[in-house]
Amino acid sequence: MSRTIRKAAVLGSGVMGSAIAAHLAGCGIPVVMLDIVPFPNMLSEAEQKKVATDKKIRNKLASSSLEAAAEGQAARLLHKKAADIIEIGNFDDDFDKSKTPTGSSKSSSNAWTSRSRSWPRSTSSAARIRS
Ligand SMILES: NC(=O)c1ccc[n+]([C@@H]2O[C@H](COP(=O)([O-])OP(=O)(O)OC[C@H]3O[C@@H](n4cnc5c(N)ncnc54)[C@H](O)[C@@H]3O)[C@@H](O)[C@H]2O)c1
Repeated sequence: MSRTIRKAAVLGSGVMGSAIAAHLAGCGIPVVMLDIVPFPNMLSEAEQKKVATDKKIRNKLASSSLEAAAEGQAARLLHKKAADIIEIGNFDDDFDKSKTPTGSSKSSSNAWTSRSRSWPRSTSSAARIRS
């Protein structure tokens, strides 16, 4: 039986999550990687005032994990092109992105598809596995 993986969701972007995301993206599989919205004690006073509305602050944990993955051990796995197919977000705002199959919804799937097309591997965005 052959299955096509069009997209993967990684919930929790810490050491393991970001390395898993890097592995998957390295295989050409688009990934959505989510983490929690930071707790107030993880933020500066200025950030705390803006966290309700500022998406950059709300995604701070996932984005800093992706940066760390690109610079740390997982960098071996994370080709620059691969980083482009990891989409970050937070559970409160973006959980539905983890449920949307590529190409079947109006939401972010078009972005996925266009990024996937530029992926240089012969497998395109989808990895074929046999089980
Ligand atoms: N790293 C390892 O070698 C290893 C080995 C065995 C088991 N584990 C387990 O795997 C899990 C992840 O390990 P890690 O090393 O990546 O940890 P980590 O601390 O680096 O990452 C955990 C991530 O989960 C996020 N998180 C916190 N609360 C959350 C919630 N309620 N829902 C979703 N995400 C939440 C954190 O913000 C953080 O980014 C842990 O439970 C750990 O005990 C890790």
